[in-house]
Amino acid sequence: MYAAVVTSFAEPPRYQTFDTPKPQGEHEVLADVLAAGLHPRVRSGASGSHYTSTHELPLVPGIDGVCRLPDGRRAYFVGSDSRCGTMAEKAIVDTRRMVVLPEDADAIRVAAAMNPAMSSWVALRRRVPLEAGQGVLVLGVTGNAGQMAVQIAKRLGAGRVVGAGRDPERLREAENLGADQVVALSDDPKSSAAAIAVAACEVDLVLDYLWGPPAQETIPALLTKRSDRSRSLNWIQIGSVAGPTIELPSVALRSANFRLQGNGQGAVSPRAYLAELPSLVDEITANRLKVNTVTVGLRDVEAAWTRPTAPGQRMVVVP
Ligand SMILES: NC(=O)c1ccc[n+]([C@@H]2O[C@H](COP(=O)([O-])OP(=O)(O)OC[C@H]3O[C@@H](n4cnc5c(N)ncnc54)[C@H](OP(=O)(O)O)[C@@H]3O)[C@@H](O)[C@H]2O)c1
Repeated sequence: MYAAVVTSFAEPPRYQTFDTPKPQGEHEVLADVLAAGLHPRVRSGASGSHYTSTHELPLVPGIDGVCRLPDGRRAYFVGSDSRCGTMAEKAIVDTRRMVVLPEDADAIRVAAAMNPAMSSWVALRRRVPLEAGQGVLVLGVTGNAGQMAVQIAKRLGAGRVVGAGRDPERLREAENLGADQVVALSDDPKSSAAAIAVAACEVDLVLDYLWGPPAQETIPALLTKRSDRSRSLNWIQIGSVAGPTIELPSVALRSANFRLQGNGQGAVSPRAYLAELPSLVDEITANRLKVNTVTVGLRDVEAAWTRPTAPGQRMVVVP
């Protein structure tokens, strides 16, 4: 079969042949891939930098996608093999890790949206279940996941949603998607944090896609400004586009009811993730979430890999 094939972690994948994988066991089938999203997680897998990487090459990137099953139905599926992923003409589908799609579902939308949407959907339903009316800060609201987080927080019953991010156009889009207030991040993390603290000091949850300096400065600024520091603030760490580490003064954990946890593979069980797939597929296929996509053919994957997309747009590879 043809696939996007990574032979060096320093280079983009190339369109070339790769051994067609063989299904094993009663739950696996070989399916035709229809669409696979180029998510940040796919890029980190292809560059060997994801925390689950085994550093073995060659590999086919891609962690999920939409496929045509041997019986003709279409399904969203989560890949199960890190060496032979979903950016290929064919992929192994574990029928326990898929959701059959309705006839009229748009495969591109589903492939684009599931990964970014899953981050807040699972965080707010499994990691720290959102209570109706609670306030949410989305730190890093301009990316695909942040824009989904605004919509999903509102769908799940959040009261006030505050979004913080850099790109002014995407901040306006966050407001269109339901954010009650947005805060523009500047180059100065301290002044940005002060502005976030004013806007979001009373929220109950933070969905943090940034980490790094913005999180480091925002945590103490926000806790200090809270009217009741004994009221819990659940900080859910999801992405780290602004930096992999922070310095956290111990006093942050003693002087307030501050609960820091992550959401991702490992923090939530595979069983819990899989249990959330059908309801999220419903949200997307019923067009209750806005999705911004651009498609690229599998044979053009090498050039597309490094081509910038418009802000907030998710590239989807189509074999
Ligand atoms: N744990 C999970 O379950 C899960 C699931 C999905 C995604 N994630 C993670 O969440 C993060 C975002 O994913 P995504 O799909 O939204 O990616 P994306 O669509 O590529 O968006 C990333 C956004 O980050 C913004 N950004 C980059 N550097 C920044 C900085 N220093 N300060 C503020 N904003 C910055 C960029 O916005 P501007 O350049 O416009 O400012 C960009 O729009 C990634 O780290 C991803 O791996 C985690």
